[in-house]
Amino acid sequence: MKFQITQENPACVASSLLLVGSFEGDFGADGKTTGLPEIGALSRLNQACGGALGRQALTDGYSGKAGQTLVHFTDGRLAAPRLIVFGLGAKERFGLAELRRALTAAFKKVKTLAVSDVTVVPFVFNLSAAPNKPDASLLVEDAIMMPQPVDRSDVGPRSFGENVALYAGMLDYVINHAKTKMGGRKRDRRLEIIKVAASKELTGDIRRGLMAGRAIARAVNRARDLSNEPAGSLTPHKLGEAARKVAANSDGLIKVRVLGRGELRRLGASALLAVNQGSAQKPVLIEMTYTPPTGSTSEVLGFVGKSITFDSGGLDLKTAEGMRTMKRDMAGGASVLAAIGAVAALKLPVSVKAVMAATENMPDGNAYKPGDVIGTLKGLTVEIDNTDAEGRLTLADAIEYAKRRGVTRIIDLATLTGAVRSIAADVGAAAFGNNPEFSARVVQSAEAAGERLVAMPMWPEFREQNHSDMADLKNSGGDPGSITAAWFLREFAGEEIPWVHLDIAGPSYRTRELGPDPKGCTGYGVRTLVELARSFCR
Ligand code: BES
Ligand code: MN
Ligand code: ZN
Repeated sequence: MKFQITQENPACVASSLLLVGSFEGDFGADGKTTGLPEIGALSRLNQACGGALGRQALTDGYSGKAGQTLVHFTDGRLAAPRLIVFGLGAKERFGLAELRRALTAAFKKVKTLAVSDVTVVPFVFNLSAAPNKPDASLLVEDAIMMPQPVDRSDVGPRSFGENVALYAGMLDYVINHAKTKMGGRKRDRRLEIIKVAASKELTGDIRRGLMAGRAIARAVNRARDLSNEPAGSLTPHKLGEAARKVAANSDGLIKVRVLGRGELRRLGASALLAVNQGSAQKPVLIEMTYTPPTGSTSEVLGFVGKSITFDSGGLDLKTAEGMRTMKRDMAGGASVLAAIGAVAALKLPVSVKAVMAATENMPDGNAYKPGDVIGTLKGLTVEIDNTDAEGRLTLADAIEYAKRRGVTRIIDLATLTGAVRSIAADVGAAAFGNNPEFSARVVQSAEAAGERLVAMPMWPEFREQNHSDMADLKNSGGDPGSITAAWFLREFAGEEIPWVHLDIAGPSYRTRELGPDPKGCTGYGVRTLVELARSFCR
């Protein structure tokens, strides 16, 4: 996907499709764009169409509500043969969330039209301030967009550009990797070129936004690809290769270290090794280290991702249904791997380290058993209550490893418990932590990034449920399953550095499309992690 900025008049841009937003009331009751100042891009396009746009809006019942779209054939009145008007909702309530909702609807519509290029006509900046009383100072130049003195929205040229590229990229995702011509696959018609019509003075901001959005979208799609990839091909070793590939494309800003079984034994990563015992695939521990071009920072963010490439449950075997989608039990690892890649692409001035302890969880003659007592990298002993509670074991070693390698904060992403879905279903994730300020910051980052996340309490009453008679801990503490699992991780994270755990078992995979996410793996968490890293750069 390529992005271009053009200063041409949108009516004259040679493009298969124009995309322009409209607010509620922009088309008056008579179909004329009465709600618009004369300089508005929509108004100009409507004029160029001889008012046909407004008339169609009227007959089609298009009113500009957020999420609405209107496809208009221009019949040669514009250089582009077709135009999509998409609703931005009420002007007074417009903000980032509305822009994202609108872009989602718009790019979904674009997908159905199977074009390879579109031109986005910016609509925000020329409309957000006192639209009914156009300020004389706004009437300069082409007036496609002007910075606003009283911008009610949180949308500026930069975030506009970023979200156009991000949503175009995320919505372009298709999962058809294994379809062949023989099986009836038609040649893909993908969106290749996105032009944005912009006035000169905003070109720089929009371009920076587009580049950032493209990098984040690529990371989201990379995380989706990795988690969608079957466990038969995405082995722990392959995940290590994926990490190396991200590093190879990072201008040398990311270094990778992959520890194999021998090194893990010497190190004493006993919990990871115990979970691996039943698997024919060797485990790896992947460490990715991003150093900003401006040098390392005192703050080192630790991104830890659960990386079970297949979770059969082990000897506490899952049901067929429960196992069916467990190739995705490394979605946390995929998101941290992709997110650190995006942080490097954005060259953010904050040090980040990603750690993934990767293995399958399988039953066989060598498998770890219920009742076993295992060691951990930290030294705590754990009685195995249930071999299907494997994620917290591998994470225990990954968290301890990250701490030894000097991270100053930890955020872990894990498809940890089925129970978390009773909190926010497949819509959002739940956050658990040892530091309310840091948890709040992560929740804010999620909100700013457009991902749903709710902070959960960690009452100390639940801590003792992980206690074992025989060992320091047991790996399953009963109800509430997501909180006792979080408490288990907390024993390893400790209280010295801020740590937050995101249980992403719900939103990392869906059996339906939702917002900008496709069916299947969603890459949940990538945007939140990037936003969190950014929050340390301001
Ligand atoms: N990977 C699963 C959690 C999961 C379940 C993720 C469904 C996505 C969808 C995890 O390893 C697991 O099996 N957890 C058990 C823990 C229990 C045995 C204490 C669970 O949630 O049932
Ligand atoms: Mn499990
Ligand atoms: Zn699991």
